Amino acid sequence: MSIMPNNSPDKTAHNTIAGLPTPDAEASIRSTELAHYIHAEIEANGGGLPFSRFMEHALYNPDYGYYSAGANQLGAAGDFVTAPEISSLFGCCVATQVAALLEPYGEDGEILELGAGTGRLAVDLLEELERLGKLPRRYLILELSGGLRARQQHTLKERLPHIYERIEWLDQLPKKPLKGVIFGNEVLDALTVDCFEIEPGGTHPLEVCGDNESFSWRRGQPSIPLSNAVTRIEAGLGQQLAAGYRSELCLHLQAWVRSLADCLAAGAILLFDYGYTRAEYYHPERRQGTLVCHYRHHAHFDPLVLPGLQDITASVDFSAVAEAGTNAGLELAGYATQAWFLMGTGLEEQLARTDPNDQMAYLKRIQELKTLTLPSEMGERFKAIALGRNLEQPLRGFSGQDLRNRL
Ligand SMILES: C[S@@+](CC[C@H](N)C(=O)[O-])C[C@H]1O[C@@H](n2cnc3c(N)ncnc32)[C@H](O)[C@@H]1O
Repeated sequence: MSIMPNNSPDKTAHNTIAGLPTPDAEASIRSTELAHYIHAEIEANGGGLPFSRFMEHALYNPDYGYYSAGANQLGAAGDFVTAPEISSLFGCCVATQVAALLEPYGEDGEILELGAGTGRLAVDLLEELERLGKLPRRYLILELSGGLRARQQHTLKERLPHIYERIEWLDQLPKKPLKGVIFGNEVLDALTVDCFEIEPGGTHPLEVCGDNESFSWRRGQPSIPLSNAVTRIEAGLGQQLAAGYRSELCLHLQAWVRSLADCLAAGAILLFDYGYTRAEYYHPERRQGTLVCHYRHHAHFDPLVLPGLQDITASVDFSAVAEAGTNAGLELAGYATQAWFLMGTGLEEQLARTDPNDQMAYLKRIQELKTLTLPSEMGERFKAIALGRNLEQPLRGFSGQDLRNRL
């Protein structure tokens, strides 16, 4: 996830935050309705809610959640941009890897995309697969947001009418395991997380509480699943987290990855996102966790404001993803930065398709390439991870860099 040039806000108060654009009247009403709904649940729950439940409402409440209530989250007119929104170079490179993964399954090969956003990645990927003569029989999309699903259908029907009938939208993961590729860009960071604080006496969940005017944090009673999960993190780190240390973790990551693994008869799960190895994520100096919110291309760190109007994300613990995959019977088939993955899947060849004599188009392409690959932009912060089942050969995207031993 990336943003246009921003101003960093400096102060939070109630359901607004200094430095952020003011929501319009209709958005404010929706946000207030959602806030009332959450406050009622807080009250019914004894005065506090696990942060994961607050995040679930803020992002996925069926009526007012950020991803449920509309379809304008992504792009220049929305709140943030993602790699496929920045350039078709991303989708074309991913297509190179996907085509190679589909190869052994011939006519039976299928693709499942998780959380397809505006549909832009699906367009780029399918166009490139068609150019390579590797179109799959079926292209499945699992999308939780009704608004985004409608936007995807509109875009794909308009851009690819001749292959539209191969595309199928799902409400849940397919019952019959597929052979091919399951992939998602920036879906992991949208999974709900729980926040915690280390105290001398143990690990406390950080809960959301508040009066009708605003939300705030409170320290909850220790919970066994959360404490056990933190103990496992500390065991992985080989040291205890210090008192006062705050961070977050995704308690249902293991179950989520297992549900994907259950859908994969053979092939690979490819996930792209921003995140770290466990040692980097829970580094002693990262004492406040990784939660970031996006509202109209402003990034800030207060998830308790603007409920339903802003995106809330947490970086990904890729060690936990790898562990979840291997626990589910998959092989860790690759882990590399986005820059190396794209270089391994033909970024240079893709650039060469733009005529250097067309200076405007070529310079635009170069700029896109820089945004996707430079360490100061998306190149290193974003990673690619692959989990495989019965893979016949190494994945091309990880040929230039293999960081699996760091996980
Ligand atoms: C940040 S957007 C990324 C969209 C798109 N992949 C892109 O790169 O532009 C997150 C997407 O994940 C979807 N999503 C969130 N949780 C999901 C889940 N458990 N399964 C499938 N999609 C999910 C959201 O509805 C949204 O489309």
